[in-house]
Amino acid sequence: MCGIVAYVGSKHCQNILIEGIKRLEYRGYDSSGLATLHNGKLIITRAVGRVASLEDKLEAMGGQPGTVGLVHTRWATHGGVTEFNAHPHRDDRVGIAVVHNGIIENYAALKTLLEEKGHKFSSQTDTEVLAMLIGELYEGDLESAVQAALREVTGAYAIAVICEREPETLVVARKGSPLMVGVGNGEYVVASDGAAIISHTSQAIMLDDYNVVKITPKGFRTSTIHNVPVTHKIHQLELELEEIELGAFSHFMQKEIFEQPKALRNTFRGRFNSDEGRVILGGLADHAKELVKTKRVVLLGQGTALHAAMIGRYLFEDLAKIPSTSEFASEFRYRNPIIEENTVAIAVSQSGETADTLAALVEAKDRGAVTMGVINVVGSTMARETDAGVYLRVGPEIGVASTKAFVGQVAVLTMMALWLGRRRFMGANDCGDLLRQLNTIPDKMEQILSLDAQVKQITERYVERENWLFLGRGYNYPTAMEGALKLKEISYIHAEGMPAAEMKHGPIALINEGMPAVFIANRGKQYEKVMSNIQEVRARGGHVIAIATEGDNEIKHYAEDVMYIPDIPECLSPLLAVVPMQMMAYHAAVLRGHDVDKPRNLAKSVTVE
Ligand code: M6R
Repeated sequence: MCGIVAYVGSKHCQNILIEGIKRLEYRGYDSSGLATLHNGKLIITRAVGRVASLEDKLEAMGGQPGTVGLVHTRWATHGGVTEFNAHPHRDDRVGIAVVHNGIIENYAALKTLLEEKGHKFSSQTDTEVLAMLIGELYEGDLESAVQAALREVTGAYAIAVICEREPETLVVARKGSPLMVGVGNGEYVVASDGAAIISHTSQAIMLDDYNVVKITPKGFRTSTIHNVPVTHKIHQLELELEEIELGAFSHFMQKEIFEQPKALRNTFRGRFNSDEGRVILGGLADHAKELVKTKRVVLLGQGTALHAAMIGRYLFEDLAKIPSTSEFASEFRYRNPIIEENTVAIAVSQSGETADTLAALVEAKDRGAVTMGVINVVGSTMARETDAGVYLRVGPEIGVASTKAFVGQVAVLTMMALWLGRRRFMGANDCGDLLRQLNTIPDKMEQILSLDAQVKQITERYVERENWLFLGRGYNYPTAMEGALKLKEISYIHAEGMPAAEMKHGPIALINEGMPAVFIANRGKQYEKVMSNIQEVRARGGHVIAIATEGDNEIKHYAEDVMYIPDIPECLSPLLAVVPMQMMAYHAAVLRGHDVDKPRNLAKSVTVE
C-alpha cells in the first residue's frame, strides 16, 4: 500500500527513483508522482494509473533533472484517484514537497487551522495538510520544521520531505509505516522496503517510530521528533536481487506458487529432528517456561493470514491440546476481548505491517497476553512488537495474492503446535512421525505442481462461470476459504468458501446447472460426510471439482473433475490441498486477461485500519 523511494547523492536521480518505485509496484497503487530539486527549484510530475504513465510524461518533457528527489505510488485513502490528489504534495509558501504513506488522523482540524492562516489547498488529501504544516512551521531549518509538524500530528506516517531552500537535504521520518535508509557510497536511497534499495546497497538502517533522519550527500543524522539524537545500527539486507525478479516466469504469483517446495525447505531447515521427535525453534527458546504454561491461544490475522490462523487453531487444539481461537484481528481489536492469565496471542502476517493485525497485537499485549509473531518480513513492525516468534523464511512475496506465505504460515504454526505439544504431553515417536511426514511436503508439492497443465485444462472448462463455491471440512474448511479468496481477488469471479456442512443451511439455494463447486475431499475423518455433501450439490445440477487423495478412484463417480494430491496425515493436508486451488486461481485470472500481480483495488500490505 503506497510506496516511497527517495534519493540524495551525486547522480541524476530520476532513473534511480523510477527503477526503485517499479520494484514497489507490487504493493498496490493507483497514481504516482516524482519531485526533484534542480537549481534550487522543485519540479513535480504526477500521473494517474501505472508508473508507466508517469514515465511517459517524464519522457515527453525530456526528463527531470536533479540529484535530490523523491517518488511515490499512492493507494487512495482521502480523496479520489486524481492527479491533484497524487503525491508529492507541496506547500504554498516555502517550496516544500512531501510524500507520505499512512493516514494523518487529525488532518481535518489541522486543515481548518491552516486555512484560518490563509493557506489554500488544491487537493483533498491529508498529505497536503502535512506539507502546509511543515511550511507553516519552517524557520530556516527543514529538519526542525518536520520535527515540529510531526509533534502536532496523530496517525501513521512514513514521509520523505525536500525543500527549495535546502537543495541538498532530504528529511525522512516514520511512525507506524515502514521506512528504511539504504547507506551507499556517498549516496542514500530511502524506501518503504528493501526491494527498492538492494540494487544500490545492502546496508540499511531501519527507522523506529518517531525517528527523523536528515540526509545530505555528506552524511545523515537521526533524532526523534523531540530532537533527541538516536544511534542506529546498520543492518545487512538479506535479500537477493533474483528473489525479487521474475526470471523465466510470467508473473510473480506463478513464480511464488512454483517456489513453494523450495520455500518450505527453507522454513524447515534446522528446525526439527524427526529421529528424536524434537522441534527446535530458536525464536521461542527464551520464553519456553512461560509458553509451556499456555492456557489459551488466540490467533490473529486478516485475509490469507487469517485462513492460516484458522488452520493454526485446529493445529493447537489437536496437536498441543490447548484451547484456541482464531479471529479477524480487526474485530478482536474493538470488541473488548477477554485475555486471561497464560494467554498467548499469535499475530500471523506476511508483511508484519498490516494495520488491523498490528493494532490487535498491541491490544492483546496491553491486556497481558504473551505475544508471538508468525511473520515473513524480518524486522517488520510486528516482528519488533512481539515477545517471541518464528519467521517464515519463504523469501520476499511480491505477488499481491499470497501463496508461499500461506504455506509458510501453516508450516510454522504446525511446528509451533508440535513444539508446545511435545513439551506438554506428546511422545517423541508421535512427534517424530509427524515431523517425518512434514518433511515430505516439499516433494509432494512438486508432484502436484507437475500437474499444472491438467489444472489449467480443468480451469478452462469453468472459467466463464461467475459464481463458484469452495467447500471443505475440518482442517480444510479454512483451506476452502483460502481457495475462494485466491479466485476472487485475482480473477474477479465471485466465490464463497465455507464448511461443506454449512452449504445446506442456505448457500445451497445458489446452486444451479453447471455451477462449479470445488470440494476438498481428501481421505480423512469426515470423508464420508464430504461425499454426502458432494451428492447434495450434484443433485441440484452443480459441477463438482474434487481435490482428492491419490488412489481414490471411487471419487471419479461423484465428481466431474478430480485433482489428486498425495496422501498425507489430515493435519498436514492443507499444505497440499491449497496448491491446486492456487494454480486454478492463477489460470482463471490469466484466461480472463487480468493483470495477476496487480489486481484492481488491492494493496500488498494494508497499512490502514
Ligand atoms: O501481510 P499480511 O499477511 O498481514 O496481509 C494480510 C492480508 O492483507 C493478505 O493476506 C491478503 O488477504 C492477501 N492479498 C490475500 O492474497
